[in-house]
Amino acid sequence: MIVFLNNNLIDVKQAAISPFDRGFLFADGVYESIRTYNGKLFRYEDHIDRLMRSLKEIKIDFEDFGSLQKIIYDLIKQNNIEVEALVYIQITRGTAIPRTHHFPTDKISPTLFISVKELIENRDEQENGVKVILQEDIRWLRCDIKSTSLLPVVLASQKAKEENAVEAILVRDGLITEGTHTNFFAVKDETVYTAPKSKMILEGITRKVVLEFCLKFKLDYREEFIEKDDLKSFTEFFITSTTKEITPVTTIDYWTINQGEPGKITKSLQTVFKKITEDY
Ligand code: PDD
Repeated sequence: MIVFLNNNLIDVKQAAISPFDRGFLFADGVYESIRTYNGKLFRYEDHIDRLMRSLKEIKIDFEDFGSLQKIIYDLIKQNNIEVEALVYIQITRGTAIPRTHHFPTDKISPTLFISVKELIENRDEQENGVKVILQEDIRWLRCDIKSTSLLPVVLASQKAKEENAVEAILVRDGLITEGTHTNFFAVKDETVYTAPKSKMILEGITRKVVLEFCLKFKLDYREEFIEKDDLKSFTEFFITSTTKEITPVTTIDYWTINQGEPGKITKSLQTVFKKITEDY
């Protein structure tokens, strides 16, 4: 595997970072995951805008965006990825000795790491839906920043795995925020609901695409928090992300929704999504 680390395309076995990198010591960094359709990076500008915003919010000074796209396509080529690729970009504040909690006083260069891997599509999940579990949202209060500090998400995701679920949906003060790595949607009376843009969720690019579809096809939608106790009043559920696209949710904890059948509106949104990505 060839990766990009600090201005070099190198074999992953040769890639090394300092133990004093602030990403390693403090999770002082941000990331993005982008995928390709037909070998082309999907909604690249949206992902880069979000990356820039995350960096700005945590005050990391990184401006080298001009060459990123070329590096990514070079990496895809060098790794001989012939089908679709999943790209991971991480930028940390950089290396500083000695370890101090505050930003280093001397100017340091951020660490840039990019890896790519072949994206394995999961058609079964898309067609038949998945099980999710509900978990308390114990993350920090800036979930709008795509921070690499993901321990609460790691624990919730592990719990989901142990319960044979694909995702853990997070609940804060009785309100559903989002999944550990997906946005959450529910449908009732032909209206699509998802949590509003706020510091409590990451504004997913796939979420944005789904809301664009709703506008275009005149499907009512509301950006409102769904109450956990009100879940049973909804008739369809789905999750969205770069890798999950639009995945129907057919089981929440022990509740099987609609006899385990993906919902009608979910399926129609999937059809539109498939069409635009096939033609991308
Ligand atoms: N996760 N919410 C959270 C907390 C996420 O981590 C993600 C993405 C999303 C969906 O965003 P998008 O539609 O832009 O992929 C929502 C990525 C895939 C990851 O963790 O690698």
